[in-house]
Order: sequence, then C-alpha cells, then structure tokens
Amino acid sequence: MWSTHLRNAVTRALLPLSWRIDSQHAARTLKRFSEVEFDSAWQYLNALGHTRVPKMQLMLFENLLEEMEHSDGFLEVAHKLARDRFQGGSGSRSVLVKSANDIHYFLAFAHESEKAICAQFNGYARACSHLPAAAEVFRGIAIDEEKHEREARASLLAVVGSETIVRRLVWKVKFKKAYASWLRGSQHIGDAIFTLWLGAVYLLFGPLLRSYCAARLTKSTQVQVAEPAQNPLRPTLES
Ligand SMILES: [Fe+2]
Ligand SMILES: [Fe+2]
Repeated sequence: MWSTHLRNAVTRALLPLSWRIDSQHAARTLKRFSEVEFDSAWQYLNALGHTRVPKMQLMLFENLLEEMEHSDGFLEVAHKLARDRFQGGSGSRSVLVKSANDIHYFLAFAHESEKAICAQFNGYARACSHLPAAAEVFRGIAIDEEKHEREARASLLAVVGSETIVRRLVWKVKFKKAYASWLRGSQHIGDAIFTLWLGAVYLLFGPLLRSYCAARLTKSTQVQVAEPAQNPLRPTLES
C-alpha cells in the first residue's frame, strides 16, 4: 500500500510539469494506458471462453466491454494531445487463462490488478488537473476499475466458497507480482552497475590508451596515403 502512495506522490509532484513541457510524452503515456486497458479486455475475453458459469460469463463480458471503452477513452485523449504520429504497437502478451483451472487465479489477479490500477488512475486524475479532458477520463475509468475490483472478488468467493481460499489466492498474486517487480528492478540495477563499471574502465584506461590509439591511427592513415589501392581493371597511363 505504501508503494501506491509513494508512486501517487511522485506522479503528483512530477507529472504536471513534465506533461506541460512535453505534450507528446503525455500522449505516449496515455496511449500506453490505452494498450494496458485493451490487454485487460483481451484477458477478460479469453477468460470468458474458459468458464460455463452464466453469472461469471456475464460479469466477464460486461467488464471486457468496459475495458474496451477505457482503451478508446485513453486513445482519444492521447490523440488530442499528440503533436506527432504515434509509433508502432505494444509488446507481447502473457496469457493469464489457459484452461478452466486458471479461472480462480485469474479472478484473484483481476481483483488485485483492478485495485492497483484504480489507485493509480485516481492519482493521475489528481496530478493532471491542468488537463481537464485527461483528468475526466482517468476519474471515470477509476470508478469502473473499482467496480471490477469488487466484482472479481465477489465472483471468486462465489466459485470457491471460502474467504480463506480467496485470501490465499490474493496473497499468491501479491507474491508473484512482487517477485516480477523485483526481477524487473534487479535487472535495472544490474544494467546501472554495468554502466557504472564500463564508465569507470573508460575513465581509468582511456587516458592511458589514448596516445597508443592515436599512434596506431596515424600509422594506418600514412600507409593508406602512401599505397593507394590498385584497381586491376583500370588501365594505366603507360598501357
Ligand atoms: Fe479498465
Ligand atoms: Fe478494469
């Protein structure tokens, strides 16, 4: 929970300025949200094909329609703010439901993800108050996300019939998400350490090797000037 508050505080502090300076950056961020919403819609559609419970099918279908609307809403406001044309599409997708057995985990995942996205969108709505159209889209979508969060949990409880199992599944999702974030974070830290090491190597050995490299370069240039390449097909003046 503290990480959500921290992220929202950072968003609120930095977003107004960065979006004011660079509207293309704002448009790109909104387009990314549109892609995330589109992916949510796809996940609901995919899950729909793996359940025969009518009530759950209805909930999944309604949510998929709303996610499509969210995707459209973000894309529309992104196009309004964009100065240039958008580039390429989004990356690959990891499929959350591959069989009926995955539905319980998917509902727990949907509950947790909708909760996180709702908090994030509320944070963005507050941070971009200088862009009323974008703030309105964020606020409207956050209301739907809160509903999705509640519905996913209620559906999960209805199918598993136990609060303990629901809580266990939600903790499993939390753990997997935290592990995935840690992997992403450690990769960035690894990249940063590598860059620092590389910079240190250049700083230490660069001055030592500079004169050697300059000498080698001068020598090879002199050789090329002294011995121009002969084209065997070109006739010489003597012939
Ligand atoms: Fe959504
Ligand atoms: Fe949602």
